[in-house]
Amino acid sequence: MMQNRNEKCWCGSGQKYKKCHMEFDEKIKEYELKGHIVPDRYIIKTPMEIDKIKESAVVNTGVLDYVSQNIKAGMSTEDIDKLVYKYTTENGAIPAPLNYEGFPKSCCTSLNNEVCHGIPDENIILKDGDIINVDVSTIKDGYFSDASRMFIIGETTEEARKLVEVTKECLEIGIAQVKPWGHIGDIGAAIQEYAEERGYSVVTMFGGHGIGNEFHEEPFVSHVGRRDTGMLMVPGMVFTIEPMINTGRPQVYVDKKNGWTSYTMDGSLSAQWEHQILVTEDGCEIISF
Ligand code: MF3
Ligand code: CO
Repeated sequence: MMQNRNEKCWCGSGQKYKKCHMEFDEKIKEYELKGHIVPDRYIIKTPMEIDKIKESAVVNTGVLDYVSQNIKAGMSTEDIDKLVYKYTTENGAIPAPLNYEGFPKSCCTSLNNEVCHGIPDENIILKDGDIINVDVSTIKDGYFSDASRMFIIGETTEEARKLVEVTKECLEIGIAQVKPWGHIGDIGAAIQEYAEERGYSVVTMFGGHGIGNEFHEEPFVSHVGRRDTGMLMVPGMVFTIEPMINTGRPQVYVDKKNGWTSYTMDGSLSAQWEHQILVTEDGCEIISF
């Protein structure tokens, strides 16, 4: 685990380990000895890896912007998928969902009472009043990025509009918790408190995740939880925060036929926003902007 003091640092800086990340590694070790869950080296990204992940995220953000310029009533969720595939491949990248564990399409499109992982379909047509999450993930030069946004089709109800807004605030509140030497549990605690105070519930079956060299890495980022619990956050970690918030109860079920689409158990509305976050020396950076 620890490397020799005089060897070149693992981060690729070219400096000697003792002049570079040795103190950093020792600090993590101290936390571990005090009983904290600490990140493995492989989920702490080097500056080179961070650059590559950011390049991937630039394409991913471009895809979401492209969707937002084109989404409208009357189009199918399959049409959204086509936009995602076109933009991604024209920009030298691969849609990460395509063929991921058997997922058949290039993005996830989750409407109204669908919580996440909706499969684009030519028979699902967007109509006035729908709320839809489009979740887009990109592989560029082997590096992964992931983000999602909500779209309101035409005019919707006050209930749906408010849900979309509060869910976005939940994401922002979660991001505000991200700083080095804090804990992953701080994120879920803040989101849960904010959502529940306003009468909403937080989905617990899915969460955010580490990402970069793979689509889903450690840690699991729960959107509920307790402060000062869970993995220690350290500079160089990259993970998503992607709260799914329901107007009704938090329980969800997964479609038995397709094995993916998840719905609220009680049929209530669900919304989700997702950003990809880098922990920095003095806080965090949203790399999916
Ligand atoms: N973007 C989703 C996530 O947040 C991806 C789910 S896997 C897929 O993890 F195959 F459905 F795309
Ligand atoms: Co994700």
